[in-house]
Amino acid sequence: MFIPRQKSYISASEILQAVLSSDQNLLNLLKIYAGHDGVTLFPSARTAIEEALRFYNVKEIVMPEHTYGGYAAILKGLKKTYLPIDNTLNTPVQSFKEVNPNIAALIPHHYGNVYPVSKLSNRFIIEDATQAFGGVYDGQHTGTMGNIGLISFSRGKYQDLMGGCAVISKDSKFLEHLRQKECKKISTLELSHLLLTYIYLLFSSGKIGGTLTTWPFLLLQKDDPVPNLIEQMFTKITKGKHMHPFQLQLGTIRWKKIPKHIRNQQERAKLYRRSLQSIPQITLPPAQESVYLYFPILVDNPKLLKRKLLIKGIDSKIDFHFSYRKNNYANRILHIPVSVNYTEQKQIIRALHEIYRI
Ligand SMILES: Cc1ncc(COP(=O)(O)O)c(C=O)c1O
Repeated sequence: MFIPRQKSYISASEILQAVLSSDQNLLNLLKIYAGHDGVTLFPSARTAIEEALRFYNVKEIVMPEHTYGGYAAILKGLKKTYLPIDNTLNTPVQSFKEVNPNIAALIPHHYGNVYPVSKLSNRFIIEDATQAFGGVYDGQHTGTMGNIGLISFSRGKYQDLMGGCAVISKDSKFLEHLRQKECKKISTLELSHLLLTYIYLLFSSGKIGGTLTTWPFLLLQKDDPVPNLIEQMFTKITKGKHMHPFQLQLGTIRWKKIPKHIRNQQERAKLYRRSLQSIPQITLPPAQESVYLYFPILVDNPKLLKRKLLIKGIDSKIDFHFSYRKNNYANRILHIPVSVNYTEQKQIIRALHEIYRI
């Protein structure tokens, strides 16, 4: 049995229900999540960040040194200050405070860890809640603590809608600016393309990041070529285009399932902590408020461990964020599959114990 590094959270029955449904309540559900009406849908989180930077004339940004790789392109030309991460795999709040508060901050909640954004209230903050949708800090939902909150609905997230994003902000002028942007809609033909790919992924063992057809490539290990190609195709179709009504239907149908996915992965994380703490070569980041979209472990040589796990039929993920300093925590991270069932998880735990048995 092959265990992919991450399964798709969309099920075939959800796709079918969404095809038959006409309920496009997603925006209202997001408003309830935000606790106010300042929410709009937009083509993608990356383009929303670009718009925000232009709208607020941001020239300089401060962010964790270990961050989402896709930012590289959109932050080109800006002056950037990177702050180091600590063993919680987040940047301590204090280090943000030490940098000039007039510089805008771009803060992602990594790996589902919920970052205390609200403690930085004197800064202009773009809060990227993409990886921690559904998380809560101090009674506030992720995405609602900064000046601008973003939740991407692109592939592999709990609220995976094959693209699109939500922008949360109390600045009605900025939201109006986004709403006024002339964007094409994803056509029904393009949508069928995306859907067929999803259905293919679901049935060719159901999973993204390592289908039956992709794992021989993964064994050759050249940075996961097939998932990357699929990713490019999705980006090409959805880039700069408004969400299709079908995506709103799918989002509305899927909404109530998200807490269940989060609870499931929190349970998996607990079991990993209990079962892996006896392996001295593995360091587990401290337990924290997290929605566990990923489960990162720290090892000396993540690439080697990834290869050894693959031989045992388990895919894992080398961190996709950049790291700007040598010997920091980022270089030691490997994400092990956490969107798994109990039997699969037992197999992963057994494999890790076998690999590290001296
Ligand atoms: C933290 C974070 N921000 C943004 C994105 C990209 O979002 P979009 O594809 O909507 O631009 C991702 C996608 O993986 C992400 O993990």
